[in-house]
Amino acid sequence: MPSRVIVGCQWGDEGKGKIVDLLSCDADMIVRFQGGANAGHTVIKENRKFVLHLLPTGILRAEKQCVIAAGVVVDPSQLIDEIAFFENEGISVRGRLFISGKAHLVMPYHKYLDRYLEGLRRANSIGTTGRGIGPAYTDRAARSGIRLYDILNQDHLAELLASVLEVKKASIPNLEHLQEFDFHYNLDLLCTFREKIKGFIFDTAQLISEAYSAGKAILFEGAQGTLLDVDNGTYPYTTSSSTIAGGLFVGCGLAPFAPDEIIGVVKAYSTRVGEGPFPTELKGDEGETLRKRGAEFGATTGRPRRCGWLDLVALKYAVKLNGVNLLAITKLDVLQDYDPLKLCIGYKYRNQILEDFPDNTSFLKDCQPIYAEMPGWKCSIDGIREYNKLPEKARAYLNRIEQHLGASAKYISVGSAREQTIKIS
Ligand code: GDP
Ligand code: IMO
Ligand code: MG
Repeated sequence: MPSRVIVGCQWGDEGKGKIVDLLSCDADMIVRFQGGANAGHTVIKENRKFVLHLLPTGILRAEKQCVIAAGVVVDPSQLIDEIAFFENEGISVRGRLFISGKAHLVMPYHKYLDRYLEGLRRANSIGTTGRGIGPAYTDRAARSGIRLYDILNQDHLAELLASVLEVKKASIPNLEHLQEFDFHYNLDLLCTFREKIKGFIFDTAQLISEAYSAGKAILFEGAQGTLLDVDNGTYPYTTSSSTIAGGLFVGCGLAPFAPDEIIGVVKAYSTRVGEGPFPTELKGDEGETLRKRGAEFGATTGRPRRCGWLDLVALKYAVKLNGVNLLAITKLDVLQDYDPLKLCIGYKYRNQILEDFPDNTSFLKDCQPIYAEMPGWKCSIDGIREYNKLPEKARAYLNRIEQHLGASAKYISVGSAREQTIKIS
């Protein structure tokens, strides 16, 4: 299988980490192409929990090549910590982790500005992860970023850093006294980082393209989710990168090709962390119950996730936008005590019925969900490993999703462990 793309179809946290981990055993190379340490991809391996923020999830499999491509924003401290963590675990990273020299760095001042700007937005805050993602991508677009290649030459780095900090301090008042904006503090951090990381910096576009031409199996690991895409998501309540399948070509620096499989990861219900419209959100006790059943707390920030019913309108949009041809439906086990189950099949917007996701996403906050109800199966399914052994009502729920989205489910996840997966052949 030469190329597979895994993307989240909702607002992130669909269970991409579990699916990437599962499929990375068939891959030669696993590539992250966007986002940064705002991601939290969880893998449960032999009863142990691993959460990957910056490293591709494939790093857990000792023999696999892993790439952090140019579209990722790299937080030096986080990268060093994650590498050290795996080296301490006896999982060696050296010689198989390749980081693009074109990738931009997330600096201490980006993390400061992330929190500072959120404070200024007050009622309009986005609810970011505070990982400096927005300010780092802002600097990239403004041509004020520092890339990994820049840290290799000390004189060039010092000159660049001085000018970047000068512009920042001239544009925002009262930053002079803050450590995050101090020239020597930032320079020392980058010098330490350079010594630890210089052996990992590569032309990753070349590496990926050679692997592709050689027929190697490449797995592209999307982070966040379709509805968080900066252009096509629920803007401004999005992240700052292109989270959709199309983003991989820009993020990796590759000419467009048709991937063999584009796998859309869909949680069997909806969640969202942070602010922004969420038509099927369950408020109060109902939301709390689903949050508890699904253990829905952020893998990066620990924040409680907002929870609600499955939204087929939004999912149909995501499937089309990504060109999803296969679905991985996760967390089906979480719905086992519900009867009936609800699926959103349309929105009521003022006096109109919408069957398609509105192009103007500012309408979403005034959209009321129109639900179809289906009977629940009311029994435990986390021990089931064959599709035909799932209760008929669970299969009917899955079929309804497939029918509505026009894509077939290839993987059904019924628990967080690797083996709690049903593969449909
Ligand atoms: P990601 O960001 O898309 O990788 O998802 P997260 O790791 O942030 O969140 C998914 C959570 O659900 C993690 O805690 C997983 O261990 C867990 N999980 C994944 N698949 C299943 C499943 O099928 N059932 C249950 N109960 N938990 C799952
Ligand atoms: P994974 O890869 C869920 C959300 C934040 C916030 C918005 C902007 O684990 O699915 P940012 O820090 O990116 O500027 O925050 O995006 N967000 C995520 N939500 N899962 C993620 O990643 C997310 N990454 C960012 O909560 O609403
Ligand atoms: Mg996550």
